[in-house]
Amino acid sequence: MTEEIVVVEGDGIGKEVVPAAVSVLEAVGDFEFVRHDAGDAVKEETGEALPRETYDAVAAADATLFGAAGETAADVILPLRTAVESFVNVRPARAYPGVDALRPETDIVFLRENTEGVYSGHEDRLSDDLSTLTRVVTTSASERLAEFACDYAPEGFHVAHKANVMRETDGRFRDAVTGVADEKGVETEEVLMDAFATHVCLDPEQFDVVVCPNLAGDVLSDLAAGLVGGLGLLPSANIGSDNALFEPVHGTAPDIAGEGVANPSATILSAAMLLEHLGYDEEGTAVREAVESTLSDGPRTPDLGGDASTEDVTEAIIDELD
Ligand code: NAI
Ligand code: MG
Repeated sequence: MTEEIVVVEGDGIGKEVVPAAVSVLEAVGDFEFVRHDAGDAVKEETGEALPRETYDAVAAADATLFGAAGETAADVILPLRTAVESFVNVRPARAYPGVDALRPETDIVFLRENTEGVYSGHEDRLSDDLSTLTRVVTTSASERLAEFACDYAPEGFHVAHKANVMRETDGRFRDAVTGVADEKGVETEEVLMDAFATHVCLDPEQFDVVVCPNLAGDVLSDLAAGLVGGLGLLPSANIGSDNALFEPVHGTAPDIAGEGVANPSATILSAAMLLEHLGYDEEGTAVREAVESTLSDGPRTPDLGGDASTEDVTEAIIDELD
C-alpha cells in the first residue's frame, strides 16, 4: 500500500525547503503526496489562514510535513498541533561535524509539552491598561508527556520548570512528570528553566533529554539552535496518539525567502523523523546520515558559511543516498 503524506508548504522559505524534503522522500520510498495550503498567502486570498480542508486532511493523515507560516503562524500551527492531538513536540538539537557550532558537544533532545501552558490561547484585554493570560496545566497532559519521555529516555531525563515561582501550574507539571517517572523507575533530575539557559550554554554535555512546559521548550530549543549552528538545522516532530506532524523549528525567514538559499537540512531531518514514525527506520537513518555527511563535506548554504543553493544541497543529499 502506498503511504499518503499530507504536505503543507506554507509561506516564505516553506515553499523552498518543503519541496526539497519531498524530493528526498521520493528518493527513498513510494509515497503519495497530498498538497494543502495554509498561511499568509491563503489568508490573503480566502480570508482564512487555515482552510477547513487543510485541517481535516492533516487530522486524517498518518503523517504531515509542514514548512512554516508567516504572520499567521499562531493561527496555523497551533490548531494543526491540536488537529493531530499532539501531546509532545520532539526537538533534537545536535551539533554536526563540519558545522561551525558555538558548542560542538551539544546533543540534546527537548520533549516539549505541546498544547498547554501559555500557548493555550486564553488571553484577554481587560482595559486600556491591562491584558491578562491564563496559563493552563493539566495533570493528564503532563502525565502523557511523562509516559512518552519514559519510553523515549528510559535511562533518565531532566525536567525543566519554574515551580519555585509558578507553584501551582509548574508545581502540577513537575509533580505529574516526576510522579510517572518514579512509578516507572526512570530517574529524573529537576532544573529551573532560567538556570538551564545558563547551564546549557556553559556545559551542554550534561544534558541529554529535557522535558519542558510549552513556552520553555520553545525558547530553550531555539537557544540550543544557537549553540549548534543555527535554526536551519533543527527538525521537530509533533506526535499524537494516532498521527503526527513534522516541521522545521524555524519560521518563514523573510530576510532570505525567494532567494533559493535556505538551508533545507531542518526540513529534511524532519522528513527523516517522519520516515521513522511511519516505520521506515532504515530509510530514516539513511536520510539522516546523508544530511550529516553533506553538512560535513559540503556543499553548504550561506547560513553555514557556504555559497550553495537549497537545490545544490538537496541534490548532494540525494546523491549521498544513492
Ligand atoms: P525565522 O526562523 O523565520 O528566522 C530567524 C533567522 O534564522 C532569520 O535570520 C532567518 O534567515 C534564519 N533562518 C531560519 N531558517 C533558516 C533556514 N532554513 N536557512 C537559513 N536561515 C534560516 O524566525 P523569525 O524571523 O522570528 O520569524 C519569521 C516569520 O516566521 C514570522 O512571521 C513568524 O511568525 C514565522 N514563524 C513561523 C513558525 C511556524 O510556522 N512554525 C515558527 C517561527 C516563526
Ligand atoms: Mg519557536
